[in-house]
Amino acid sequence: MATVLIAGGAGFLGRSMASQLLARGDRVVCVDNFITSHRSELTTLESNPMFTLLEQDICTPIEPNSSIDAVVNLASPASPIDYLKFPIETLRVGSLGVLNLLELARSQDAKFLLSSTSEIYGDPLEHPQVESYWGNVNPIGPRSVYDESKRFAEAATMAHRRTFGLDTRIARIFNTYGPGMRPNDGRVVSTFIRQALLGEELTMFGDGSQTRSFCYVDDLVRGLVSLLDADALLVAEPINLGNPDEFTVAELAALVLDLIDSSSTVVHLDLPENDPTRRRPDISRAKELLGWSPTVSLVDGLARTIEHMAATVL
Ligand SMILES: NC(=O)c1ccc[n+]([C@@H]2O[C@H](COP(=O)([O-])OP(=O)(O)OC[C@H]3O[C@@H](n4cnc5c(N)ncnc54)[C@H](O)[C@@H]3O)[C@@H](O)[C@H]2O)c1
Repeated sequence: MATVLIAGGAGFLGRSMASQLLARGDRVVCVDNFITSHRSELTTLESNPMFTLLEQDICTPIEPNSSIDAVVNLASPASPIDYLKFPIETLRVGSLGVLNLLELARSQDAKFLLSSTSEIYGDPLEHPQVESYWGNVNPIGPRSVYDESKRFAEAATMAHRRTFGLDTRIARIFNTYGPGMRPNDGRVVSTFIRQALLGEELTMFGDGSQTRSFCYVDDLVRGLVSLLDADALLVAEPINLGNPDEFTVAELAALVLDLIDSSSTVVHLDLPENDPTRRRPDISRAKELLGWSPTVSLVDGLARTIEHMAATVL
């Protein structure tokens, strides 16, 4: 049994990770300031005596009242509408917040797992994206508050590993979806499902030929837990976690409409600035080092997500 501190533990991935860890007998300390989540979403988790909540911003020093074996950092505004609404908070959490958590891990002699993102590859010039690719990020564009804060977070993590020998792990997470997403979080999967369920027009950026690779939440979190458990020496470098099945956004819209049996039409909007044209993870490293690969197909995962979201929005 380990005690795992999850920063951002009230969010979409955090709640799912907390559930998986509690289910195997770990204790979970959730640290969250609810900037993009709500305490009511923790009701089930808070009924578990092995789960405790510290309501605070991770940019201020964290003083847990028990010893910690692992620090998992999932705290950050994560969807484009969130980080564009909170640009300064996003930069602060990726810099001051990450440095605080690294200090905490160091003082507790704990492992540190950083959730980074495929966004560090920017609009990639290499396809699929392998961990050795350095990326193509516009450092001053509107999305840079997120992309650069994650790139800083990776640099800070590696510096702590090199300087202090801290046991660190970095997951580069690609688009993840599933039950528990907020219907209004602005991500493409939740937006299309919500609009189709409500019989509204589906708002598609550009002509829908841009591609994304969508990973079901249970698969992704299983990957995060495997990374947390892995032999420290094997996982010194960042690891891509995502589903390598690649779909155009237009294909995603068609699947959602078909599964919901919706007659909603599609309306095309201008592409956001610096929107990546292609996204697909190379997951060879995760397969080799963690024995991990996703198992849930997009059709199955969408069906489960639609069922869950229908109960919320209808
Ligand atoms: N979901 C995805 O598709 C995806 C893809 C790539 C990377 N990630 C990364 O995974 C992590 C979790 O993503 P998510 O989808 O669960 O996002 P989310 O918005 O649902 O959850 C993030 C949580 O962090 C909390 N938080 C933000 N700033 C904080 C601060 N300063 N102090 C304390 N808590 C703070 C929020 O209140 C929220 O509960 C993020 O770091 C994100 O960048 C997610």
